Amino acid sequence: MSETNLEKVYASLESPLNGKAENVWKSVEKPMVKIVSETGSTNEDLKVLAREGASPCLLIADKQNAGKGRQGRGFFSEGGLYLSAILPSPGEAAPFVTHLAAVAVRESVAYLTGEKPLIKWVNDVYLKGKKLCGILCESVQAGKERRYIAGIGVNLSVPEGGFPKEIEKIATFVRCDKERLAGEIAKRLFYSIANFNKEELVRSYSRASYLKRGDEITVIKPSGEKQAKVLSLTNDLALKVFYENGETEDLIAGEVHLRLR
Ligand code: BTN
Repeated sequence: MSETNLEKVYASLESPLNGKAENVWKSVEKPMVKIVSETGSTNEDLKVLAREGASPCLLIADKQNAGKGRQGRGFFSEGGLYLSAILPSPGEAAPFVTHLAAVAVRESVAYLTGEKPLIKWVNDVYLKGKKLCGILCESVQAGKERRYIAGIGVNLSVPEGGFPKEIEKIATFVRCDKERLAGEIAKRLFYSIANFNKEELVRSYSRASYLKRGDEITVIKPSGEKQAKVLSLTNDLALKVFYENGETEDLIAGEVHLRLR
């Protein structure tokens, strides 16, 4: 028996966006929701379904025993929200689904808790200097179509005995109703894909940026590490950085990982 309540998730999906009488589901089909008490990775489960041609849907797990992070890392998955979605076809929003998911998480947490999380380029949501949420967007081929999956993990509690050693200094959590949060995130994400507006996304993403001009970072690529300073976010939401040798580069998410120095 799962600890997550399916009816509450549907009720949250039905409730108006931002408390305004805005009907999200006019422009995009409401997803089916499935809840499981335990799985390896909700992203992996939905990748299988997406390849088989499944419609947009949500999968929530109480617990993942092989939660996946970016670049082959694991993701600690107990006591939080572990949500994956097969997204509606994103069209020109395709390169930005991670950014859209990050904005959806930030706005949902702010709406439900009054907290003001920030987005650490490109896929992390931070609260008071620590990681609250990780996002992993993936895509698979289904016949002629590319299908997109957004995976979102939000810490909603500290496990008994604390977070695992590797993340105890960098992780945080927020007290928030899990089902309402799932519904709010999905509503915002599906709406922003179906009504994609790049300028609006750049504005809301930049406003919420955790990284500021002049921040000293380490850029970590498969080819090695380099010290850099943050310059700005570009109009395509790449991160413009300035290296010690005077060169600049527009980083796109892909294989890049950042560490704030
Ligand atoms: C990261 O921090 O590098 C990304 C973490 C993404 C975690 C979520 S939890 C739901 C979905 N299922 C997974 O296995 N990963 C994503």
